[in-house]
Amino acid sequence: MADLTTTYLGLSLHNPIIVGSSGLTNNIESIKKIAKNKAGAIVLKSIFEEQITMEANKAVENDASLSTYPEAADYISNYTKQENVGQYLKLIEDAKKAVHIPVIASVNCVSSTEWTSFAKKIEAAGADALELNAFVLPSDEKNDSEKNEKFYFDLTEKVRKEISIPIALKMSYYSAGLAQLIQKLSWSGNINGLVLFNRFFSPDIDIDKMQVVANNIFSTPEEISTSLRWIALMSPKIKTDLSASTGIHSGEGIIKQILAGAKTVQLATAVYQNGPEIIPDMLKELEKWMDDNKYAKLDDFRGKMNQENTANPAAYERIQFMKYFAGIE
Ligand SMILES: Cc1cc2nc3c(=O)[nH]c(=O)nc-3n(C[C@H](O)[C@H](O)[C@H](O)COP(=O)(O)O)c2cc1C
Repeated sequence: MADLTTTYLGLSLHNPIIVGSSGLTNNIESIKKIAKNKAGAIVLKSIFEEQITMEANKAVENDASLSTYPEAADYISNYTKQENVGQYLKLIEDAKKAVHIPVIASVNCVSSTEWTSFAKKIEAAGADALELNAFVLPSDEKNDSEKNEKFYFDLTEKVRKEISIPIALKMSYYSAGLAQLIQKLSWSGNINGLVLFNRFFSPDIDIDKMQVVANNIFSTPEEISTSLRWIALMSPKIKTDLSASTGIHSGEGIIKQILAGAKTVQLATAVYQNGPEIIPDMLKELEKWMDDNKYAKLDDFRGKMNQENTANPAAYERIQFMKYFAGIE
């Protein structure tokens, strides 16, 4: 029978399926179910830096008397932060006690200042690794691409100085020089892995209510192509681990991402839509394909279809439809 074990960020996983950061991993009951269904690891729901800051500010704003006592305002602000932070640290501790698979904490970071000391507490609470959910949307016309990308480097450098547990950077695909950015981040020595890619909240317009609304909260299997392309392109060129995120809905999706060079895959939508019971089904599909193709372990086919190894390397860089849709008017 095929050996599904893998390493990721220096951690040992029973198999390459990670349940990604989401509402699925924000409570112990759900985390236990996920572990029972044989996930290789979990990434806890992100604690949001914005949320911490906002809550702290709200508490201070709501108490008008504090404006005349700046020291008290400072205290309240810190206290509120600790409350929120305290709950998150308890989630890490409880998850570590409840399950025997690696528990990766996650912070949604919008700056490299506010929270970096908090990373130490995450480490002390027992997290096996930290995933930095860094959300760069290059929407501010005052920022050039260099400034937008500098954020990733500042952030990872600062956090690296705080902790010694492994760090993964979950990033976006918005970059005019994505290949070089990924390579430089991987060479920086500050991270152990990259998660390609985060999936954004997508705005839509409700034309009856005249409101901007959230659209497509869940992915479709077709969305696998963006991360597949970039994992296939970059896996031969970098040394840090790659974890694939977005659009992995089946065992076939896992096989594709490992062929492209991924160490692990992360699931959210598939588990939301089918429950954690989909995990053993996906593992069975992976195992059967490995047995049928006589692969004893994941490394036997990992990267076999990356850009360097495939017979058709140009396919990963082809972006115009050309021949594919020729004849379809
Ligand atoms: C309801 C929901 C909540 C999510 N919350 C987070 C989060 O807190 N932090 C994070 O890094 N990603 C979050 N994600 C993104 C997922 O971890 C994942 O990257 C994305 O959904 C793409 O994977 P999928 O195609 O398997 O859904 C969330 C996704 C969903 C659907």
